[in-house]
Amino acid sequence: MTTERIYPDNVTEAARILTDGGLCAIPTETVYGLAANALDPAAVRKIFAAKGRPQDNPLIAHIADLDMLPVLAREVPPAATRLAEAFWPGPLTVILPKSPGVPGEVTAGLDTVAVRMPAHPVAREIIRLCRLPLAAPSANLSGKPSPTTPEEVAADLDGRIDGIVWGGRCRVGVESTVISLAGEIPTILRPGAVTREMLEAVLGEVALDKAVLSRPDPGERVASPGMKYRHYAPRCRVVMVEGERDRYVAYVNARAGEGVYALCFAEAAADLAVPAVVYGEERDQASQANGLFSALRELDERGCALCYAEAPEKSGVGLAVYNRLVRACGFNVVKA
Ligand code: TXA
Ligand code: MG
Repeated sequence: MTTERIYPDNVTEAARILTDGGLCAIPTETVYGLAANALDPAAVRKIFAAKGRPQDNPLIAHIADLDMLPVLAREVPPAATRLAEAFWPGPLTVILPKSPGVPGEVTAGLDTVAVRMPAHPVAREIIRLCRLPLAAPSANLSGKPSPTTPEEVAADLDGRIDGIVWGGRCRVGVESTVISLAGEIPTILRPGAVTREMLEAVLGEVALDKAVLSRPDPGERVASPGMKYRHYAPRCRVVMVEGERDRYVAYVNARAGEGVYALCFAEAAADLAVPAVVYGEERDQASQANGLFSALRELDERGCALCYAEAPEKSGVGLAVYNRLVRACGFNVVKA
């Protein structure tokens, strides 16, 4: 299959591919998504095949306007309406009771469906032209870091999908926050740029699912199936190092050697005795989210064998950065 490069001024071509049951990668404000018609089971199955994604990991359905919601959700609780008012369009996914018309392929057989209204103008325009909800996981091969540029999409999926819409770098850089309203207390299943603090300002108390920060036990049922896989991982081995800047630098410098790299904030780079790949600035969490996935890919490109990563804060957007990085490390964390 040849993968067509589609420029954002030609979104009608992307819409044509999607309404014909094909696969097209599209830019969103978080990461690139691999889109298909969410109401077409055969199209949705192609997503799993192209990514090599496990069948039991459900997808997010993307809408452009609230009038698409009843097609997906059987019921919209008042808390979901408040979230939609506060954060849509934007990087927030809400888990809702599913409508009977949503294929089991999208929800992996669950009776809930994940819904998001992205803010990216190109994504919104494509959804509007199709007049369909689009199922879209991140447009990477399963297990790899999510793509934040069209070049990264092409590196993983060229020849496996019908088209890539060639937008620029994604603004946020990590996937949307996923929140479940099923329990008594709203629960974050995956942290993102809509932070726990922002959600609590709208909903009151918000809990963190325990899979956000810790390795699920083998065989354990997790609320968000996507959290149980080794994820976001480059080929090289990554170890997260927690501790003050001086201790991080000393820890890494004591281990310098062939193929050893640092994945660090800009503030640390000059003091390190090993090659450094920078993933943002310590004082700017948004820059960390924006830089992390490309930095993980760069480590492989530069021939890194072992990488010591500087740990982000676990608050604000830093929580999302920590959640992705700790998975890229396979939960391999040391204290300096
Ligand atoms: O920002 C994003 O969310 C991007 C862009 C493309 O919109 N999409 C994305 O999709 O990250 P994906 O498939 O990589 O992640 C979807 C996450 C997974 O962790 C999955 O397990 C969870 O959402 N999920 C989907 N449906 C669910 C459901 N019904 N209940 C619980 N978790 C669900
Ligand atoms: Mg993904």
